[in-house]
Amino acid sequence: MENERKLIAGAMVTLSLATAAMIVVPFMQLKDVPAPQALAPYTSEELVYIANACIACHTQQPSTTGAGIADASRGWGRASVAADYHYDSPPLLGTMRTGPDLFNIGARQPSADWHLGHLFQPRAYVPGSVMPAYRYMFEVKDPGSVAKGERVVSLPPGAVEEGKVVVAKPEALDLVAYLQGLDRTYTVLSAEEAEWAASRLAPNRLAKEPDEAVTDTNESEKANETKTNP
Ligand code: HEC
Repeated sequence: MENERKLIAGAMVTLSLATAAMIVVPFMQLKDVPAPQALAPYTSEELVYIANACIACHTQQPSTTGAGIADASRGWGRASVAADYHYDSPPLLGTMRTGPDLFNIGARQPSADWHLGHLFQPRAYVPGSVMPAYRYMFEVKDPGSVAKGERVVSLPPGAVEEGKVVVAKPEALDLVAYLQGLDRTYTVLSAEEAEWAASRLAPNRLAKEPDEAVTDTNESEKANETKTNP
């Protein structure tokens, strides 16, 4: 009996230490992180992203380690920090990258028409795309029956049957507003923090083409702003 007691006590101690290290300490550290000034709050639009399980194929977390170097050079932006998720409830980091990271999709692709058309039929834009077509967020109508105020989607030729038009339902418009709002191209680190972060990058990773390795190739001006924050 003596040994069992020791075993159980030992297990409890180990478990509580692990809980403290993995859950309590990070929670204390991160619970009061303020929102970056440039980060706009979004409304219920996020719900459409959740409801349609976009997270099954898309992450929202470019990183600095390992693949993170590639993340920046793909134009997905700087590594994310806790403050970037201030308005997310729940945070939609995701783990699968069947499709590209969407953390900065609003900056990379600001066109509502492109997003609407792409949701209606991804393969009209990217041949062979495995992203599902979200046709149920749209209505296919005769041009005559389009009501005033309805949003007609401009599509590449052949994306819809001859003589028909595609109208976006409110959920498609909400989802696109959410995607357009995904823009974390602002700078989050102070100059000192950025310098420290840069000094932590393994030199051999930066040896070849430093510019390419750490910058956001997306938009050169914004990339320069975020360069200090690889
Ligand atoms: C089965 C996996 C899958 C699901 C689910 C999925 N996507 Fe995608 N998505 C992809 C793939 C693959 C691509 C890249 C090819 C393309 O652009 O169509 C992509 C591309 C995109 C792009 C363009 C990204 C860029 O950098 O050009 C956006 C925006 C996007 N998806 C949004 C969404 C949204 C919103 C949802 C949920 C309604 C969603 N996706 C659900 C696989 C998926």
